[in-house]
Amino acid sequence: MTMTEPFGVYVHWPFCLAKCPYCDFNSHVRHVGIDQGNFVAAYLRELHHFASLAQGRNVSSIFFGGGTPSLMAPETVGAILDRIAELWTIAVDAEITLEANPTSVEAGRFAGYRAAGVNRVSLGVQSLDDASLKSLGRMHTAAEALAALSIAKRNFERVSFDLIYARQGQTLPAWRDELARALEHAQDHLSLYQLTIEPGTPFAALHASGALTIPDGEKAEAFYLLTQELCDSAGLPSYEVSNHARHGAESRHNLLYWRGHDYAGVGPGAHSRITREDAKHAIAVRKSPEAWLEAVAASGHGIEQDERLSPHDSADEYLLMGLRLAEGIDVKRLAAIDGRRLDAARLQQLEAQGLVKRSHDRLRATDTGRLVLDRLIVELAA
Ligand SMILES: C[S@@+](CC[C@H](N)C(=O)[O-])C[C@H]1O[C@@H](n2cnc3c(N)ncnc32)[C@H](O)[C@@H]1O
Ligand code: SF4
Repeated sequence: MTMTEPFGVYVHWPFCLAKCPYCDFNSHVRHVGIDQGNFVAAYLRELHHFASLAQGRNVSSIFFGGGTPSLMAPETVGAILDRIAELWTIAVDAEITLEANPTSVEAGRFAGYRAAGVNRVSLGVQSLDDASLKSLGRMHTAAEALAALSIAKRNFERVSFDLIYARQGQTLPAWRDELARALEHAQDHLSLYQLTIEPGTPFAALHASGALTIPDGEKAEAFYLLTQELCDSAGLPSYEVSNHARHGAESRHNLLYWRGHDYAGVGPGAHSRITREDAKHAIAVRKSPEAWLEAVAASGHGIEQDERLSPHDSADEYLLMGLRLAEGIDVKRLAAIDGRRLDAARLQQLEAQGLVKRSHDRLRATDTGRLVLDRLIVELAA
């Protein structure tokens, strides 16, 4: 780790207006409302603590994720960005992203976020079909989402949006049509996620009872491959399993996670990777917003876990994250982490099966390989 390596700051805002039935992110609904002033004070204190753990770093990206960060007042975002600038050096070309839900109320705050310093927005459009938005429990229509998208394009240099596909009842021709329309509206970045049934969510219960079925197995693969085909021909190839961009328009913050660089994460449930005394530390902060507030008030931070990763764990993590990327991993860097050499015979086998590709010092998973990434990683890590 050098001081010139990319370094990110992640800020987690844990509140939503309603809980979507598929979502297992650390997001909470508070019908009585919350006092943003208390939260701002706690974010500013916790940032101070994290700056003491990662001194002298140059911040190349900042990401406000959630939950629903577009429920934050622009002044809250501004105060957090000002504190980050006091504690670290922010690169002049830093990418500063905020995740936003595409309702008209939230779009009304976009100019305020821009004025506070945000230069990239990632909108949770999820679908361009109203019936699907309803069954996903979303609080916006497709028309409202598209209106929010144009307001975002007017306010920010860079705009991305998310869609969820392989949904209940969705056919391949319907997805082809929906994705083609999405590509017409896309600027230079799209996140396209296959619907995942997350344990403990209302969708998991419906799925278990048979009331909700989604494409799986070969059907799900066909959705994935169609997505690659359409995005490739639109000039937005995937640079990560679910993320597509024109060359140069990749999310720098997300790349930092997959390339194994350091980041400080503040706010309830945030995670960090910070290299200290030659070892990477995996740090996790308390998930409950109220418990986090109390912990920060008592000790200046809400950290509940700080694990010094062994070189072996760090190398496994690099492999796991890096193979999600189209650029793959640098095998020399992998070797530098824990001295590991990948088994040549096993690599040859995987290459013959069309699952990986090697060129010079890089190892990449192919499109087919990325369909079975979990198995691939287990085989490579063995
Ligand atoms: C932190 S979440 C949500 C951000 C924002 N609150 C929203 O809903 O638009 C980021 C993205 O993860 C995706 N996502 C969340 N749960 C998912 C699931 N179970 N399956 C697939 N995608 C999911 C959605 O596309 C979502 O926009
Ligand atoms: S998908 Fe977004 S809006 Fe819905 S509960 Fe999750 S974080 Fe909140």
